[in-house]
Formats: sequence, C-alpha cells, structure tokens
Amino acid sequence: MTKPRVALFPGSFDPFTNGHLDLARRASVLFDRVVIAVAHNSAKNALFTPDERVEMIESAIRDLKGASVIHFSGLLVDCAKRIGAQAIIRGLRAVSDFEFEFQMALMNRRLAPGVEIAFLMPSQEFTYLNSTLVKEVARHGGKVSGLVPALVERRLLERFRDRKPGADGQPKAAKPRTKAR
Ligand code: PNS
Repeated sequence: MTKPRVALFPGSFDPFTNGHLDLARRASVLFDRVVIAVAHNSAKNALFTPDERVEMIESAIRDLKGASVIHFSGLLVDCAKRIGAQAIIRGLRAVSDFEFEFQMALMNRRLAPGVEIAFLMPSQEFTYLNSTLVKEVARHGGKVSGLVPALVERRLLERFRDRKPGADGQPKAAKPRTKAR
C-alpha cells in the first residue's frame, strides 16, 4: 500500500478566510490528507483564541474530504514531522508575499530537509484578501459576507458588537518582515 500524501497547511488563521479555504481545497486535490494547523502565535495580538479558530475552521471544512484541523505551538517543522507530513503548504497571493515566504521556506528546509514546501496561489478573487483586512472591515461594521465562511462572519459580528473601538485585537505595530494574513 502506498503511503498517504499528507500536507500541513499552517497559519495564524485569525480568522480563517475564504482565501484560506480556497487554498485548503486546492491542497486537498493534491494530497490525501490536509492538516490545517493553527499557530499559537504569542507575538500576535490575536482576536480569537486557538480553540475558537479551530472551531471556525472545523465548520468551514466539514465537506472537504481528507481535511482536518489542529493547533500547534513550537516549530512548524516539528509539527510537520509529528503528523508525518511530506509537505508544508503556503499561499502566495502577490509578489509582495514572496520574500518573507522564501526566507521562511529556506529556514524550514534547513531545519527539516525532508519536508517539502509547496506554494499555492488562491483564486484571483482572493488575492487582496487577508485576515487583518477582514477584522478591520468587521470592526467598523462593514460587510464581510463572501470573504469569510459563515461561522467566521457570525463570530466576527458577535466579537465586535460589544467591543469598544480599539479593543479589537488588531496587531499594534506590524513587523515589517511579516505579512498580513
Ligand atoms: O498566518 P501566518 O501568520 O502567515 O503564519 C505564520 C506561521 C504560523 C506559519 C509561522 O509564524 C510559523 O511557522 N510559526 C511557527 C514557529 C516557527 O516554526 N517559526 C520558524 C519559521 S521559519
């Protein structure tokens, strides 16, 4: 029996967008299993807890065969080895994503030469989309339907309904070498 092809699709997913879902769908065509891994990223001032993010992703991928979701802390490559992933999936939306992704890919390759990094492009309609923009729009009462899965939309509405402006978990100062996801 051939070994199942397993891909790890990591990210902050704060929150998961339809762009992320599009990438997960594309990955699921190429791999037998796609494990979406939510990072416990203490450097970022997250709006949703890892458990909340996992719950929203579970709901978004319920019809996606072979897809599952976990959360992880520590090094991404250790998570990849733990779950037996042969590849790590990252999305490239625009040239501006490339430099940071390239650095990260080479570092991950150095740490785990046996794990391949695969870049996928989302559908063109999602190339401008990222979680930070979605939160910004939702925080100011803008419409995010069509940009995020239904449960994410609901959770954003709930989260911002009772919040004071500015207390929304937006990253205070974006680091120049990380990109908006
Ligand atoms: O959604 P993001 O913010 O682009 O995801 C970035 C993420 C979580 C994939 C990256 O920060 C990561 O891999 N974090 C785990 C720690 C790690 O392995 N860092 C070294 C990467 S070279």
